[in-house]
Amino acid sequence: MSYTDEIEKRKTFAIISHPDAGKTTLTEKFLLFAGAIQSAGAVKSNKIKKSTISDFMEIERQRGISVASAVMSFEYHDKKINLLDTPGHKDFAEDTYRTLTAVDSVILVVDSVKGVEEQTEKLMNVCRMRQTPVIIFVNKLDREGGSPFDLLDELEKKLNIKVSPLSWPINRGAGFKGVYNLHDRNLYLMKPQQKVSDETIVRLEDLKSSRLDEFVGKDNATQLREDVALLDGVYDPYSQKNYLAGELAPVFFGSALNNFGVKELLDTFIEISPSPGPMAADLRIVQPEEETFSGFVFKIHANLDPRHRDRIAFFRVCSGKFERNKFYKHVRLGTNVRFTNPASFLGQKKDVIDEAFPGDVIGLYDRDYFKIGDTLTEGENIVYQGIPSFSPEVFKELVHNSMKAKQLEKGIKQLTDEGVAQLFSLMYGRRKIVGTVGLLQFDVIQYRLKHEYGAECHFEPLNFYKACWLSTTNQTQLDAFINFKADRIGHDKDDNLVFFAESEWMLNYYIKQYPDISFHFTSEFKVVPK
Ligand code: G4P
Repeated sequence: MSYTDEIEKRKTFAIISHPDAGKTTLTEKFLLFAGAIQSAGAVKSNKIKKSTISDFMEIERQRGISVASAVMSFEYHDKKINLLDTPGHKDFAEDTYRTLTAVDSVILVVDSVKGVEEQTEKLMNVCRMRQTPVIIFVNKLDREGGSPFDLLDELEKKLNIKVSPLSWPINRGAGFKGVYNLHDRNLYLMKPQQKVSDETIVRLEDLKSSRLDEFVGKDNATQLREDVALLDGVYDPYSQKNYLAGELAPVFFGSALNNFGVKELLDTFIEISPSPGPMAADLRIVQPEEETFSGFVFKIHANLDPRHRDRIAFFRVCSGKFERNKFYKHVRLGTNVRFTNPASFLGQKKDVIDEAFPGDVIGLYDRDYFKIGDTLTEGENIVYQGIPSFSPEVFKELVHNSMKAKQLEKGIKQLTDEGVAQLFSLMYGRRKIVGTVGLLQFDVIQYRLKHEYGAECHFEPLNFYKACWLSTTNQTQLDAFINFKADRIGHDKDDNLVFFAESEWMLNYYIKQYPDISFHFTSEFKVVPK
């Protein structure tokens, strides 16, 4: 197979959703359709079910699952699908954002009863930042809820994107019969929970056919014909160009649990979704067809065995061919590295691979030399652009027993390199501040520092509202502000200046009072590391 065929063959994507919308169920159905797993229940939900935040066993279980299912690669209709898993818990949202830097498209699952939820909006915003093409799957149509027309309106308004339905539900709730495929203009009818195979699907290519009435009942058939006529008038025809530009989201309806609408989604997905495309590095855009190899680390996972502190770095190939045992340049460190056991993932199995192509995600065993965002090349000094760090929402001071200061120092550095949390230090007293998006990470950090690094610590709450990165063209004004707020000024891990605001009101006040200072809520303005 030619190199361009290898690229063309790949579809690298993530399924994302607000917790409980049905991401795990849909993932499992995809794997079943593709024959990558044989029975339901094989994909473990990676969400932390209990709300109690001190359940360490649950955290460990979660970590085990996320390693095993971080990437699921399988073949479907001659395509190689790389499905990247994302954490289910909202406290791990940053991990999801980082995974989105490594995909070419996403499927966003929305619960038809709950509609657009908080995390759905945030995820959509991240997709928009990178113009990632999004397909929306509206799930749980087997439950009673509002009209699909209202749902489309809500998606358009709250997610701020044009939508184009490509499948349409026939009734819903207890009377839900299946979906009409607007893209291929045909209908698949299935019984709930039916094992999926092409023979068991009833095909109906013409909506006028009286067989439709026979299969779904007269009322449903009439309603479907009316809905489809209305849709044609209200929504612009689907545009592949707008979808690929991230400006239009095709929408599918269905019920992942009952297998309704899933095959339509998967078949259309492999037809319309993009193959690996260009990726933005600091100095230039890199095309996948370029012959020299490059790629970047988007996720690091500590090995589960605490006695061996090796880790797996998840690496996305962006251009050229990756080869086992070949030396590549680690751009940040300026050294050459090679990998003897690079792993690919098939279902839950890991295999050593000899080569990988753009779009592939490989696992590189690593002893401390990778940080998230690290780039490997064949010599060129480029750095891939990631998702910026967001201002954390919860802050605590890390307090430790000074006997084990060295271990703690090393541990907290490695955990923050993995992206578990952000680490800051206050200008006065060099006090260590840990910032996260949720409370759960504090338990993870405390637990892992103790078990993997032998360092005990505890956290003291802080009344910080937000961390803002500061920049200015007026050094005198910035110096005055630093003097004034000295006890709330610190630095991030890369020594960038940070201000910890006490409240939203005060922050807005300072923004007005110090017009020459820019208060950034993400680290995206940052110069990438040397
Ligand atoms: P998540 O990964 O997005 O968090 O969601 P997940 O797939 O785990 O689904 C959340 C719950 O919604 C599960 O029920 C799942 O069975 C249910 N579900 C998924 N798809 C559908 C659907 O199409 N219709 C209906 N009615 N329910 C659906 P649970 O009781 O929380 O978990 P479980 O005990 O069934 O695993």
